[in-house]
Amino acid sequence: MLKVARLRCVAVCAAALCSASCDSLKEPQKVAVAPASPVGTTVEIKAPLGLPPVPVPAGNRQTAKSIALGRKLYYDRMASGDGTLSCASCHNPARGFTDGMPVSTGFKGQKGKRNAPTVLNAAYSPVQFWDGRAPSLEEQAAGPIANPIEMNQPHEAFIGKLAGNAEYKKLFEDAFGPGPITLQKVEMAIAGFERTIISGNSPFDRYQFGGDKKAMSPAAIRGLALFKDANKGNCVKCHTIDEKYALFSDGKFHNLGVGVNPEGELTDLGRFDVTKAEADKGAFRTPTLRNIALTGPYMHDGSVKTLRAVVDFYVGGGTSNPQLDKEIKELHLSGKEREDLVAFLEALTGDMPADVGPPDSKSDTK
Ligand code: HEC
Ligand code: HEC
Repeated sequence: MLKVARLRCVAVCAAALCSASCDSLKEPQKVAVAPASPVGTTVEIKAPLGLPPVPVPAGNRQTAKSIALGRKLYYDRMASGDGTLSCASCHNPARGFTDGMPVSTGFKGQKGKRNAPTVLNAAYSPVQFWDGRAPSLEEQAAGPIANPIEMNQPHEAFIGKLAGNAEYKKLFEDAFGPGPITLQKVEMAIAGFERTIISGNSPFDRYQFGGDKKAMSPAAIRGLALFKDANKGNCVKCHTIDEKYALFSDGKFHNLGVGVNPEGELTDLGRFDVTKAEADKGAFRTPTLRNIALTGPYMHDGSVKTLRAVVDFYVGGGTSNPQLDKEIKELHLSGKEREDLVAFLEALTGDMPADVGPPDSKSDTK
């Protein structure tokens, strides 16, 4: 909590915390913790076919040194209290940057209640987590380290370990200039690395944006038409396709009735926990569908095993509950049409980015 308060004050200035010193935003010298900033030449991240430029916040330029540091931190098990888990334990490049489990298993085998989303293309999400509670990759990054059921390591302890490590001390100074290692620098480096974990140029992208009409199979082409047709799949309503690129997410929150128990109750309130608005009960952020064939099982609780089962779930009109989204209703799709939709979803697997696997190892994701 403390960490969030500090960051807000520095970066966002939540009214409640900074009412007296909101000017600190304009006058950074008054801020208790001086904002860090990467040193060195800015590196351009090239967006692959089908994706827009990667959004990079003004305060956290992409540099080769901060990206490399973030990559090392991402794969370092030192981040967890007992040295057993790294970010990659749950966001594993070999599994499309997920863990392939319905819900994640964290510190000493404890299970969370949510499915680990892919980190691939997370840079494009306007907010992070299924319920959108983190406003940026920076603010997301340190959360799992201290979370008792994830990595369970107090931030001070982690910073202490890093500060006592000569190699890290040098890497932080190379990336951010002289000064102590801070949590903010850890967050900035990890977020900077995550912004390089971008995947596009899928068969769909080559078909849709590259003019290669042979890039998708006839079944996938039929599936795309169903995906877009308001009277058939109506999927594009939320999993958006724009004129020049496709994120496959509107970045908004919807209730599909996933996780409604046999008594008709919601087992996870989702977005409601953040906004406390009745209409947000059971609503979750529309996930991207890029690389979806690699990232099962599906939905916020990992309750749906296959893409065919996801399509069948939509055909049935989701699960009834008072907040069910008005766009979710029974679909009229034949067996063949359902297969075509799955073929389309399978055409969304893109190229894996280079240089995002564990550093110092030959096993990259290429
Ligand atoms: C024990 C498993 C586990 C570990 C370890 C873990 N995560 Fe996660 N991660 C999850 C789960 C589960 C979620 C979804 C939680 C939610 O939405 O409430 C998540 C969500 C995220 C998201 C948001 C993605 C999105 O689309 O909303 C990002 C980014 C992320 N993690 C990065 C990291 C980083 C960086 C680390 C290491 C510092 C890390 N994770 C460590 C399980 C884990
Ligand atoms: C009203 C908006 C909306 C519409 C319409 C919609 N989706 Fe979704 N989709 C979502 C949301 C929100 C989730 C996550 C729900 C959850 O976990 O509770 C989701 C989840 C998914 C997932 C699982 C993603 C993952 O990473 O686990 C797939 C696959 C999917 N949708 C495909 C489709 C297809 C195919 C269609 C059309 C038949 C469709 N969606 C229509 C909003 C929508």
